Amino acid sequence: MIKVGIIGATGYTGAELVRLLSRHTGAAIVALTSRSYPGEPFWRVYPHLKEHVDLACEDLDLPALVNRCDVVFTALPHGHAMEVAREVVRQGKRLIDLGADFRLQDPAVYERWYGVTHTAADLLPGAVYGLSELYRDRIREARIVANPGCYPTATLLALAPLLRRGLVDPAGIIVDAKSGVSGAGRKLDLRAHFSEVNENVRAYAVASHRHTPEIEQALSALAQVPVTISFTPHLIPMTRGILVTIYAPLRQEMTTGGLLEVYTAFYAGEPFVRILPEGILPQTKAVFGSNYCDIGVVADTRTGRVVVLAAVDNLVKGASGQAVQNMNIMFGVDETAGLSGPGIYP
Ligand SMILES: NC(=O)c1ccc[n+]([C@@H]2O[C@H](COP(=O)([O-])OP(=O)(O)OC[C@H]3O[C@@H](n4cnc5c(N)ncnc54)[C@H](OP(=O)(O)O)[C@@H]3O)[C@@H](O)[C@H]2O)c1
Repeated sequence: MIKVGIIGATGYTGAELVRLLSRHTGAAIVALTSRSYPGEPFWRVYPHLKEHVDLACEDLDLPALVNRCDVVFTALPHGHAMEVAREVVRQGKRLIDLGADFRLQDPAVYERWYGVTHTAADLLPGAVYGLSELYRDRIREARIVANPGCYPTATLLALAPLLRRGLVDPAGIIVDAKSGVSGAGRKLDLRAHFSEVNENVRAYAVASHRHTPEIEQALSALAQVPVTISFTPHLIPMTRGILVTIYAPLRQEMTTGGLLEVYTAFYAGEPFVRILPEGILPQTKAVFGSNYCDIGVVADTRTGRVVVLAAVDNLVKGASGQAVQNMNIMFGVDETAGLSGPGIYP
């Protein structure tokens, strides 16, 4: 049994980790920490988990918590996983960070985009970017896994086959993304109030979203040349889900069928990437509550561009589901444990 601790368990990604791990037959949660609800039974914070989780929230005693666990998940705002990582490494345990602290290999880039000093830069070379489908072999051995952001997960899975096969000009990529409100976490924020979000669609962080350098770092590694993208996220009135629509210039004329063959071969055998047949496009509702990333591809022969669409549930494949998938890889158990099955529809 893998012994798991979750630091920051009462946020949305923390609660989703608890939900997924509560039905994982090879893992047991031994500690859930919270600053706001110490001593409170977890189900009282999240009533949907009554009868499924009998632990209470506890204050964080970092050395003692790490000592009780095989793996620690940090589901905290950025800037708080570095101290945890140091203790995890000191005790020879393993960390999966759902935040951004170990995603960017260059600490100067992290500090520029996140505005905080990186206090564990010496641990960055040993951290592995946890996009399960692309870096499985390195994740298996990793002591620190940097779980990808939600937008990067959808964007990178959508673009990886094109860049690996050199089918698009990496200089002309445009990513247009839409997210549900849970992407911003549970903390109070005026912009997430019902009356602000309902019946509204708006762009935010245009040309400045923090996921941009993370996406560019991974795309550059795939393309083997420095890649920059135009990335515009939008907030839309729904709870969960991300849909990315990506435009890229094709280097040679291709049909939709030809592109789909590339994608199908690239993701052959992947349990959580579904390549949709011609004429069917991804939608957030089809992945709601599941660990799937659905991908659709269309060749726009008139403009010479390919349009790729991908949908994920931001809290599952975009965060906690992929984190559990990474845990499964790290501990050599069935990669789909705790994650299989469809989502909820409608
Ligand atoms: N939401 C998503 O879709 C998503 C997707 C991918 C990645 N992520 C990343 O995952 C991490 C967690 O996101 P989330 O959406 O779960 O956030 P959240 O709902 O705001 O939860 C974060 C939790 O961390 C604790 N916390 C807050 N400030 C803290 C501090 N200064 N020190 C220690 N603990 C603190 C809080 O719990 P207590 O007050 O009870 O301690 C809070 O509930 C973030 O880094 C986020 O960027 C989120």
